[in-house]
Amino acid sequence: MATEERLTSGEELDDQLAQLLRVESFDPPAHFKEHALLSDPAIYEQAAADPEAWWAKQAAMLDWDTPFEQVLDDSKPPFYKWFLGGRLNVSHNCLDRHVAAGRGERIAYHWLGEDGSEREITYADLLAEVERFASALKDLGVRKGDVVGIYLPMIPEVVVAMLACARIGAPHNVVFGGFSAEAVRERMEFSDAKLLITVDAAARKGKVAPVKERVDEVMGDLASLQRIVVVRSKGVPCEMKAGRDVYYDEVLAAADPKCPAEPMDSEDPLYILYTSGSTAKPKGILHTTGGYLTGVAATHRYAFDLKADEDVYWCAADVGWVTGHSYIVYGPLANGATSVMWEGAPDYPNKGIWWEIVERYKVSILYCAPTAIRACIKWGAEWPNGHDLSSLRLLGSVGEPINPKAWLWYHKVIGHERCPIVDTWWQTETGAIMITPLPGVTRTKPGSATNPFPGVVADVVDESTGESIEQGQGLLVLKRPWPSMLRTLYKEEERYVNAYFNRFGPETYVVGDAARRDADGYIWVIGRIDDVVNVSGHRLSTAEVESAIVAHPDVAEAAVIGQHDEDTGQAIVAFVTLQGDLEGDEREQESIRDTVAERIGKLARPKRIIWTDDLPKTRSGKIMRRLLRDIAEGRELGDVTTLRDPEVTAKLEARIGELRAAEE
Ligand code: WT7
Repeated sequence: MATEERLTSGEELDDQLAQLLRVESFDPPAHFKEHALLSDPAIYEQAAADPEAWWAKQAAMLDWDTPFEQVLDDSKPPFYKWFLGGRLNVSHNCLDRHVAAGRGERIAYHWLGEDGSEREITYADLLAEVERFASALKDLGVRKGDVVGIYLPMIPEVVVAMLACARIGAPHNVVFGGFSAEAVRERMEFSDAKLLITVDAAARKGKVAPVKERVDEVMGDLASLQRIVVVRSKGVPCEMKAGRDVYYDEVLAAADPKCPAEPMDSEDPLYILYTSGSTAKPKGILHTTGGYLTGVAATHRYAFDLKADEDVYWCAADVGWVTGHSYIVYGPLANGATSVMWEGAPDYPNKGIWWEIVERYKVSILYCAPTAIRACIKWGAEWPNGHDLSSLRLLGSVGEPINPKAWLWYHKVIGHERCPIVDTWWQTETGAIMITPLPGVTRTKPGSATNPFPGVVADVVDESTGESIEQGQGLLVLKRPWPSMLRTLYKEEERYVNAYFNRFGPETYVVGDAARRDADGYIWVIGRIDDVVNVSGHRLSTAEVESAIVAHPDVAEAAVIGQHDEDTGQAIVAFVTLQGDLEGDEREQESIRDTVAERIGKLARPKRIIWTDDLPKTRSGKIMRRLLRDIAEGRELGDVTTLRDPEVTAKLEARIGELRAAEE
């Protein structure tokens, strides 16, 4: 599109989007289809006819030390095993084999620091540092099967740490840098981590926030944690506990530069990643080796149409989430891709930084979350319009439903109507993308993740009978095992069965989302049906936030819900009863928010806190969150006869009415 035709004023843009809104679907652009890895819809039938053969073919693209003998063992559902008898190492597949094939000089990551500093890391560089750090971990006493915690910001060392663990068979447990030290401690305790890799301090929009110091405040009494490795990233002095703490650069310098990759059983654990569930205790999602790598490599290749020797790929997520594990680290590296890694936020040093990065590195594939797109809409099209985005050829979305307006803005303002959009639905548990368009095959509809990836069987079913709903709304389920599926919840096998397979038996994985299927069979994911809230694509548990709020000394009781929010998708709303005669005011609200930030992280702070004398409860004393959700959204309340005290809801409705009036 010529520059002069580009959108300028907000009004013009709204007009153009309104016009586009009338277009219901978009075919893959002819030029894209022509060069796409997959362009024939027959791929779906081929995979469906023999899913095991399809996945075996994907697995065969990896480098196996010992080839697998059996593709799938489904004799004990819901405990599935993939690629039995096979042995391989993930770090070997991500590094050594590319270097051995003469691709050592290819850039694995263009890393850009918040202060503008750059590091170009080749596959050979990455391999050398991973080997050294893997040796160092061994020197520090880490053995195969030992859990290693990682609490690092978006710096190259986080990738090194993950791959070094994979190289020696030590499952990593990465905690998102935005979580509090308290949350890290808890996750280290649940997983019995032996060693933690962290950092002196992290960049936060021009400031430097201490990290090691915070870790020290909470980690002291955790006996299982024997060692802490500290990356010196920002030059902030740290207190080092003798016998426990060591500097990353020092152990690296002392380590053997060679550390051969340990061949692992296909079903050996690769990592644990804690995510929020329906109760306050997070779930330790366990992923294994062969199936996981097969799933992330295949989906990364085909959903993004990756051409490793031409593309510059950028997944603008944080490595601390599963999106980062699968699509910043393992998928792209397994495929030998060149990626961008950005240390900072989307609005610092200015709101055009993302587009500056796209222009600077000639990014061709961009993968981000709808919440970021909505923020960009708010900031205005002049930011992206100020940069050359002509390198882009494919756009991806992940983490939450993308509203059609955001989809169309992404399509028009970022993709210049030239780039297909892949709206990818998946979860921490699924390990890899499950529902997505194939960009050279699928006609897309703004707001729909479209169809399951080849080899995946998804269905929308009636919530009570479990029968397929051909057209209409129901529960989203996955009906066949897939290679990258979680194998269990770490140390909580029973919870694994109960959380996902209780409703329709051990062969139907219940996702926890509601979805709608349209007349063309397209799937539209609506959102969570459990007590999980999605704030800016970040998954949080209402129970976890509640338990953080009641930890505040002034609080007697709390109930937390997710409320629809224009910017963040959902926002956290807390109904709080204070102790005795305490009166709620703004200071008290801030103090409660601080408590939540300390226990979980800033991202979990409630946007709204609503004071109440009582909460709607059933006669058995269970808080009726459904009613709170209806009250917050201003919906009809329906049946309130099971309430212990029906008066409570009337009072709350009046209170919300007052707050609304005050906000307007
Ligand atoms: C939940 C999983 C997938 C990596 C990031 C989130 C929601 C995710 C989509 C999408 C609609 C989506 C679902 C899902 N979700 N992607 N494309 N459309 N909803 O992983 O933290 O495990 O959260 O995110 O509700 O269940 P997660």
